[in-house]
Amino acid sequence: METKKKGGFTGQLGFVLSAAGSAVGVGNIWRFPYLAAQDGGGLFLLVYLVLVLTFGFTLLATDIALGRRTGKNALNAFGAIRPGWSFLGKMTFLVPAIIMTYYSVIGGWIVKYMVIYLTGRGKDAAQDGYFTGFITSKAAPVVFMLLFLAVTSFVVYSGVEKGIERFSKLVMPGLIFLIIAIAVFSLTLRHTDASGVERTGLEGLAVYLIPDVSGLTASRFLKILLDAMSQLFFSLSVSMGIMITYGSYVKKDVDLNRSISQIELFDTGVALLAGMMIIPAVYVFSGVEGMASGPSLMFISLPKVFDAMGPIGTIAGIAFFVMVAFAALTSCVSIMETLVANCMELFHTSRKKMSLIIGVLSAAAAVLICLGYNVLYFELPLPNGQTAQLLDLMDYISNSFLLPLICMLTCIFVGWVIKPEWIAEEMETGGCVFRRKKLYRIMIRYIAPVIMAVIFLQSAGCLR
Ligand code: PHE
Repeated sequence: METKKKGGFTGQLGFVLSAAGSAVGVGNIWRFPYLAAQDGGGLFLLVYLVLVLTFGFTLLATDIALGRRTGKNALNAFGAIRPGWSFLGKMTFLVPAIIMTYYSVIGGWIVKYMVIYLTGRGKDAAQDGYFTGFITSKAAPVVFMLLFLAVTSFVVYSGVEKGIERFSKLVMPGLIFLIIAIAVFSLTLRHTDASGVERTGLEGLAVYLIPDVSGLTASRFLKILLDAMSQLFFSLSVSMGIMITYGSYVKKDVDLNRSISQIELFDTGVALLAGMMIIPAVYVFSGVEGMASGPSLMFISLPKVFDAMGPIGTIAGIAFFVMVAFAALTSCVSIMETLVANCMELFHTSRKKMSLIIGVLSAAAAVLICLGYNVLYFELPLPNGQTAQLLDLMDYISNSFLLPLICMLTCIFVGWVIKPEWIAEEMETGGCVFRRKKLYRIMIRYIAPVIMAVIFLQSAGCLR
């Protein structure tokens, strides 16, 4: 069951930055701040922090240890340990395959907005209907998607060390620098609206950080808990086979305990900074009622905020979209790498050949998703009450339906079939100390599977 080796990360730093690159993505930037604003500010932050250290840690440790101990990708890892469980590997492989179809489309939107701000046309983006006009047009979304996908494929094509690791080491520090700079700038903002009310960035910060417990009931607390939970496991890129693949590239002398703590810190730090950057800015210019989630926050609300800032808004817009492009690229790289690595193992082909094949297939699928806003437009009601187009449908199947199900099955597999000790042995390789071992045992056997079942039932519409 020992590792074969096929190229891997040079050491702990390369691994941590690459895994953080996967974890830090649009979820941190367009979903976390929204949930925080909606779910009682500091109260949500507190709940989230506790969950990262318990629940998030458990899931991350599970995936990474599974990958490193088997040296395999999701498709083969589960079956290699218990042949009867190979179905779980296949299910896990489905998630990046589905996400890949639309992630590069969103990446293309980001590139488009980056270009708009770089060419000083931020005013256009702030007009009503601009975003809808763009995504429903036939050619532009496809062109920008192909551009984004080409960069992603090139990084994966270049290999784990020369591509992913090198790219992450270059881009992640830049991302951190930009997000800190924009967050600090956000706090200095002030604006007087038409009715003469002045709002400042620091007041916005207070809205974000101070726990709002007014009208807190048990059912509202449960909702906050579930929101934080589902955000967390999407944000850490767990249960998608990605961290299993990255884990399989980690050398045996790397301390997984320290690496995992650093990945948790990175992902959570960026999420907290994203809130610090977005909530005060939106608050100053439109009040927190202006907060939206998902694409409309990034492509509709924020361009209006940049516009209201005056000339400096162009610079803020450039910095913001370059930063988001970095975040999206490293995440998309991890999705494509997982597909390529699994297929290389399956078909015994070379990385270069497989990267090209997956690149072309992903482009074809992404074109279909782009067409979902014009030729293939539909409105489908989902079990969770939302209305979906093609992109949302893919997102629902992978993130709301498959993820919690796979996560629950993985917890049952590790907690009850192979037993937590199997993971603990890997965490303790080379005399490393697995400090949160007791916690891990309780989480993986009892708490995590139950929570996952609740999230799954909620997405499936059974708890409404
Ligand atoms: N973890 C990423 C985020 O928070 C999202 C992601 C999803 C990354 C799927 C890779 C794969 O945005």
